[in-house]
Amino acid sequence: MSNKISNILEKKNREKIVCLTAYTYPVAKVLDEICDIILVGDSLGMCVYGLPDTVDVSLDMMINHGKAVMRACSKSLVVVDIPANTFEQSSMQALETAQKIVDETACHAVKIETTRKQIEAIKLIAQNDIAIMAHVGLLPQQVRELGGYKYQGRSQEAAQEIIAIAKEAEAAGAFAVVIEAVPAWLADEITAALKIPTIGIGASKNCDGQVLVIDDVLGLNQEFTPKFVKKYENLAEIVKKSARNFAFEVKNGDFPQKSNLLEK
Ligand code: KIV
Repeated sequence: MSNKISNILEKKNREKIVCLTAYTYPVAKVLDEICDIILVGDSLGMCVYGLPDTVDVSLDMMINHGKAVMRACSKSLVVVDIPANTFEQSSMQALETAQKIVDETACHAVKIETTRKQIEAIKLIAQNDIAIMAHVGLLPQQVRELGGYKYQGRSQEAAQEIIAIAKEAEAAGAFAVVIEAVPAWLADEITAALKIPTIGIGASKNCDGQVLVIDDVLGLNQEFTPKFVKKYENLAEIVKKSARNFAFEVKNGDFPQKSNLLEK
């Protein structure tokens, strides 16, 4: 097990784990000194490519952004999402995809949206020395079948199923579990039941860590924002203001100035 993974495992019950997504070199460079984990999430489908959801994100997209983020990071643990339609056919397909992501990006770990069907894949990936993070609760890659981004595990039966999947993922060798959009009591029960850390998003403050999508944190996402998002800035307004100032100066002939030009 790598030092970066054992550092994350040691934080359970000691220190909260900070995780944000990043998709590009400049953002990852800023986040590297702050975050414990940087997730190259398939949310890049919406945040970078303007897709309606994560379902059509390709392996090439994940690899290209994984490479860019890895160039920027020296401190954080970098995790790259395994995109939809690249792992569901068999455990061997999942292993091959995970191996390709690690070989091409040199990332430290991969994440897989997890139902019972992925437990064997987690086992095979972990046995092949690839650090793997599970993801339970709301699985955004299934949004079309779910009919929207809905809280999961609200009935006793659905909750017990999510607890069972999280426990099986741990037993199969996952080093951490993302828990997305479930009732707080359920996230608490999973966090208490597992020895590996849980990273919550719309889950509970008692998870071992929290993750948010960076575009939501910065206020770049102008569209739907779920209840569990906290917007710490309004970057869209700052970008708009800067672009307006630039446009004004260009039209007035105030930009460029002498100081911006080579005279001789
Ligand atoms: O793709 C992503 O950004 C994620 C987080 C929301 C956990 O999976």
